[in-house]
Amino acid sequence: MAVSMNRRKPKSSKNSETKEHCCCSAFLFKILSRIPLGILLLILVYLWSSSSTIISGKIVHICVSSRKLNNLYCLSAGTQPNFEIPIPLTNNSFTRNIENIDASPSTNSSVTDDKEIVNALSSSSIGNIKEDVDIFRKDSIRTEIDGADKNRNEEIAIAKKAVKEQLQLHRSWMSSTNHASCEGRGVYVYDLPSKFNKDLMGQCEDMMPWTNFCEYFNNDALGEPLASLGKGWYHTHQYSLEPIFHSRILSHPCRVYNESEAKLFYVPYYGGLDILRWHFKNVSVDVKDTLAMDLMKWLEHRKPWVQNSGSDHVFVLGKISWDFRRRNYTSWGTRFLELEQMQNPIKLLIERQPWEVNDIAIPHPTFFHPHSDDDIVAWQQKIIGTTRKSLVSFAGAERPNQPQSIRSVLINQCTSTSSDKCQFLDCKSGGCNQPETVTELFMDSEFCLQPPGDSPTRKSVFDSLVSGCIPVLFDPFTAYYQYPWHLPEDHRKYSVFIDQEEVRQMKVDVVGRLSGISARERDEMRRFIVYELLPGLVYGDSSSRFEKFQDAFSISVNTLLQRVSRMQ
Ligand SMILES: *[C@@H]1O[C@H](CO)[C@@H](O)[C@H](O)[C@H]1NC(C)=O
Ligand SMILES: *[C@@H]1O[C@H](CO)[C@@H](O)[C@H](O)[C@H]1NC(C)=O
Ligand SMILES: *[C@@H]1O[C@H](CO)[C@@H](O)[C@H](O)[C@H]1NC(C)=O
Ligand SMILES: *[C@@H]1O[C@H](CO)[C@@H](O)[C@H](O)[C@H]1NC(C)=O
Ligand SMILES: *[C@@H]1O[C@H](CO)[C@@H](O)[C@H](O)[C@H]1NC(C)=O
Repeated sequence: MAVSMNRRKPKSSKNSETKEHCCCSAFLFKILSRIPLGILLLILVYLWSSSSTIISGKIVHICVSSRKLNNLYCLSAGTQPNFEIPIPLTNNSFTRNIENIDASPSTNSSVTDDKEIVNALSSSSIGNIKEDVDIFRKDSIRTEIDGADKNRNEEIAIAKKAVKEQLQLHRSWMSSTNHASCEGRGVYVYDLPSKFNKDLMGQCEDMMPWTNFCEYFNNDALGEPLASLGKGWYHTHQYSLEPIFHSRILSHPCRVYNESEAKLFYVPYYGGLDILRWHFKNVSVDVKDTLAMDLMKWLEHRKPWVQNSGSDHVFVLGKISWDFRRRNYTSWGTRFLELEQMQNPIKLLIERQPWEVNDIAIPHPTFFHPHSDDDIVAWQQKIIGTTRKSLVSFAGAERPNQPQSIRSVLINQCTSTSSDKCQFLDCKSGGCNQPETVTELFMDSEFCLQPPGDSPTRKSVFDSLVSGCIPVLFDPFTAYYQYPWHLPEDHRKYSVFIDQEEVRQMKVDVVGRLSGISARERDEMRRFIVYELLPGLVYGDSSSRFEKFQDAFSISVNTLLQRVSRMQ
């Protein structure tokens, strides 16, 4: 929060938000006057990366971006086995190269550890407050962290509160009424040169070394139909959000073709696909940034982009925020979201960076893409009525390279209880290959364990919700601090929370704890998930029409329209 507020350019005028900003600033000021800024930053970085942060003794190892490099083949997916398989190509020269770059915290040099923190902080989005971070020079770092350690609980609470304030701001844009009229709420979709979107899909064969993406882009990027699961089910790739969102917005009822009639501007740049094609190739960082820089040049000449400094513009990115925030001690990802011009627009991503107020997370795409209200109702009836034979299930893989991952503990607990209580589907052995297998497992289970993977969020959380399986979360950053428009603030309505620290220290028997939840409580949660949440968590197909429901897409666009119509 401190971070993002400080780097907002003062010249950007967001009159309508003045109130919120004032209250945020006051809040900020309170924090800043209480603790040194450097420590606050450290806490934010720590909180954010808590799923991959190791605290040993007094040293906090930050491996926020190295986690991706540690395990190239473990992206944030839960149920896509291609992303779960731990590095099959150990003798691949490029992999080795990456591992060398990675100053992994598991190496025992404390110099490396300190450097990591300094780098993470000094290259994080701090702009004009860089001097404060200099306190984190190598020599002083230990004492600074000792200091942080002392009041850590209090400070963590403050930093978490800051994240919650942002979510409150995001939620405040939502409307309780469903607008029937597009009057004064026009959406303009830029007609970008095809190199920024369609041409990237055209590179599907060469996108990643071990997967051919082409079939995922069939059917307006929903993928191949999955007849066995029923109407509206497709083999959708987890990174397909960009084209899915784009084809929906082209037929949005509020779309206008005249810029001067628009309130909201959508830039259909497929930034996630852009960077995906470079992730596993040995190219320079300049190559990775080329298209994003071209886009900035293209936008410079558009009047609407200039007129409000981008604050009424929105980008939809189908990958996690970190992939677009390259720090210069790593070569992973692009700098797209670090660019000055990209600070004002709203970015809708499958995973936000918690201290970036203009990052907003929206659901990962699932396999279900209804066409009509009837498709939704039919699915609701189907899953509310199924008998769930197992109490708990977990679909995923261990993280042997991440000693702090709680996955092994969970897998042990799951497989050591009587077999009908907990089912483990090992993604390492290819068991999660088929969407049917995972969906059927989740439809068969009361609770689905959703520990963080390589990043805090999981597509699998949405797969389990859509299957009517109650997610069990271990890290608030997996969902509670992510999806302000699609999940309610009271997370007890739809999930069970067990602190990962308790699991790590083996203080909790997860299956036992879940057995203690009564059938009545389970049913209540499930009814809330299926009837209240589910329609708003799925993306309809490209020609879908809903009367009764708002899907994930409509909720997102309506909320954005609500926000911009209050601006100015
Ligand atoms: C990589 O390992 C595989 C199997 O271990 C082996 O067949 C192949 O020759 C190795 N490639 C290189 C370049 O070392
Ligand atoms: C990557 O590219 C650079 C520059 O072209 C080259 O020097 C280096 O050897 C390459 N690394 C690998 C692992 O191919
Ligand atoms: C780590 O420390 C051990 C002994 O303490 C040493 O043998 C090893 O080389 C060190 N590794 C690195 C990467 O420095
Ligand atoms: C766009 O709208 C503006 C204002 O309503 C109008 O003056 C202008 O002629 C329109 N442009 C086109 C191409 O229709
Ligand atoms: C990181 O980037 C900044 C600005 O781009 C530059 O000033 C700094 O020297 C770079 N640091 C390293 C270690 O390359």
